[in-house]
Amino acid sequence: MAPSLESHIIPQGAEIGADTLISRSKVTVIGSGNWGSVAAKLIASNTLRLGSFHDEVRMWVFEETLPSGDKLSDVINATNENVKYLPGIKLGKNVVADPDLENAVKDANMLVFVTPHQFMEAICKGLVGKIKTDAEAISLVKGMEVKMEGPHMISTLISEQLGVNCSVLMGANIANEIAQEKFSEATVGYRQNREAAEKWVQLFNTPYFNVTAVQDVEGVELCGTLKNVVAIAAGFVDGLEMGNNTKAAIMRLGLREMKAFSKLLFPSVKDSTFFESCGVADLITTCLGGRNRKVAEAFAKNGGKRSFDELEKEMLQGQKLQGVSTASEVYEVLSHRGWFELFPLFSVVHEICIGRLPPSAIVQYREHKSRSS
Ligand SMILES: NC(=O)c1ccc[n+]([C@@H]2O[C@H](COP(=O)([O-])OP(=O)(O)OC[C@H]3O[C@@H](n4cnc5c(N)ncnc54)[C@H](O)[C@@H]3O)[C@@H](O)[C@H]2O)c1
Repeated sequence: MAPSLESHIIPQGAEIGADTLISRSKVTVIGSGNWGSVAAKLIASNTLRLGSFHDEVRMWVFEETLPSGDKLSDVINATNENVKYLPGIKLGKNVVADPDLENAVKDANMLVFVTPHQFMEAICKGLVGKIKTDAEAISLVKGMEVKMEGPHMISTLISEQLGVNCSVLMGANIANEIAQEKFSEATVGYRQNREAAEKWVQLFNTPYFNVTAVQDVEGVELCGTLKNVVAIAAGFVDGLEMGNNTKAAIMRLGLREMKAFSKLLFPSVKDSTFFESCGVADLITTCLGGRNRKVAEAFAKNGGKRSFDELEKEMLQGQKLQGVSTASEVYEVLSHRGWFELFPLFSVVHEICIGRLPPSAIVQYREHKSRSS
């Protein structure tokens, strides 16, 4: 069992009444990859500063044995550093790594989900009946699930499986840059509960991480999810050395498809959301930097001869690629709904990823003209 920071939270002899403690929110971060660790760092700096939160931030760790033979969670607790996914960055002494999911969430009333999306269904299943009934959740997870009845956003999966309200946080946020406290912005998308959204903003906002809230959970989440497909396309363009004009064209086409796809799925999605950090800003940063672009560049450089699985293992050291699986999920939606003609860029990205088309096909199609943007 992971150590507790209770002695840190309540200094010996301090006169803190039980009521004060009860009204403070307790935060657990579910996930400890690259972004999960940075999220824990941001949150931990604020829980120490703000009286409305318990100091301690629990971080659930999917346990791994490191090459040294040590357990990752033990090393995080001993060094205050996630040596595998965020080496060289101190998380804050009030971050406690916990490999036991049930124990990590047991007292929490604010749950931050931040794992690669393919693990979310199993994690939610493991949490049914284990969380506080009045808990609020937020998802930092980019991706969707496609089921028989249609696409399911991760925030919906969390809400439906766990019976909690779930907001989302997305933005132009390459984790390693935020870890070094370089200025960036993010967007919280919420459904109805403005009060909860404000609390999430308080929890994440720092002088170098500027968070704003918008009432458009689906718009924010779809921006964060779909831009990874466009980043794969941008990587192909880089791998083929097509230059900046081509990449800008791909980004424009991609943004147009992101908006059209989001609005077809959820007519409530707002145009203004695409101008928030989660929209055009995240698209730009992901197409310039980011792991999806990087691995897609290598794929195109190799003429599509080495699979994404192989390149992911070789280039990302355990980090996960989201764009390829999202492209496949989007393709499934396009296929079910007969929308291929409306989304030529999304379609061709998937077909290149699975080897049906060569990387050069990324510019060999005509933009569908019948939809106005
Ligand atoms: N890294 C970024 O810059 C960044 C920025 C914004 C959003 N995101 C999003 O955040 C989410 C989490 O990404 P990340 O960068 O924190 O993770 P990551 O790709 O760096 O690490 C993978 C994580 O998955 C865990 N894992 C492996 N197998 C697992 C299993 N079977 N069950 C549960 N967990 C398992 C690993 O322990 C590790 O914590 C993703 O949706 C990603 O798109 C990432």
